[in-house]
Amino acid sequence: MLTLLRLLEDGRFHSGQAIGDALCISRNAVWKQVQRLESELGIALNRVRGRGYQLASPLVLLNDAVLRDKGLSDIWPFHIYESVDSTSAEATRLVAKGVEPPFLVLSERQTSGRGRRGRIWQSPFGVNVYSSLVLRVQKGARQLEGLSLVVGLAVMRALRASGLDDAGLKWPNDILVGGKKIAGILLELTGDPADVCHVVVGVGVNVNMANAEGIEQPWTSMKLELQRMVDRNEFVCVLSRQLHEHLSRHAELGFAAFQEEWESNHLWQGREVMLASGTQRIEGMVLGIDRVGALRLSVGGVEQRFSGGEISLRLRDDRRA
Ligand code: BTN
Repeated sequence: MLTLLRLLEDGRFHSGQAIGDALCISRNAVWKQVQRLESELGIALNRVRGRGYQLASPLVLLNDAVLRDKGLSDIWPFHIYESVDSTSAEATRLVAKGVEPPFLVLSERQTSGRGRRGRIWQSPFGVNVYSSLVLRVQKGARQLEGLSLVVGLAVMRALRASGLDDAGLKWPNDILVGGKKIAGILLELTGDPADVCHVVVGVGVNVNMANAEGIEQPWTSMKLELQRMVDRNEFVCVLSRQLHEHLSRHAELGFAAFQEEWESNHLWQGREVMLASGTQRIEGMVLGIDRVGALRLSVGGVEQRFSGGEISLRLRDDRRA
């Protein structure tokens, strides 16, 4: 199916005969592949008698050669998939098979994309970026301090470098534009923390997604904000460069070096919020973060600190259930 998509990627009409010739398959087999593109990958096609098939909306596929050309392989080795359950699950399997970190896993779609707090991350084919970077944890737990917040900063910088000047952060690691979520981060540890251990840094960015069903919170995409298609190959490289730069600085200096920069980009600094952790609900005002990335809240005039992956935060005046 990917070969057929690569042919259609130019946005022109291709006759059934021409596609059949290029793919060395019959016109009937072409028809079946077109059906599969629509039913399995959700890709809409125009069919016009006498002209053939055309993509209903433009698509920029991830391209190994283009990514190499743009320098991605100089940053870290990468693996591209047409479809996986989750790039983070695949990254973990590759580690188990003996693939040496650091490396990056990218996919055109995820069939079971994982979000924070057990949520599903919508991952339609060919429109967004789903990436998982595997790093070896060498310095024990200290290497992980504030790591997800630093990744958030790197993603925010990549979005700003791509024209989204008002991208900002929401603790712990959501990236918002105009109050809507545009990217999410999920860190997962694999292996034995006391022995050889890896962290899988999963990053999902809504790039060219224009519609989606079943996303529980307000969301946006680069395309919706910029009013144009974004070259996903280019964005993967911009993102990787930012990640590499931020992660190197974090490994060298620790999270304290980012604390101020992070706070100055926190969209909810000084806001009244409600924090939820399991069945617990706490209301307070955001003071900032501490030297390891924990949230500092003023609760009834007293500072309290919170950290942990299961915590969620919302504005106190946000009336959504
Ligand atoms: C969140 O809920 O905000 C975190 C979303 C993280 C999604 C990314 S997409 C790439 C990687 N693979 C996954 O299954 N999840 C992460």
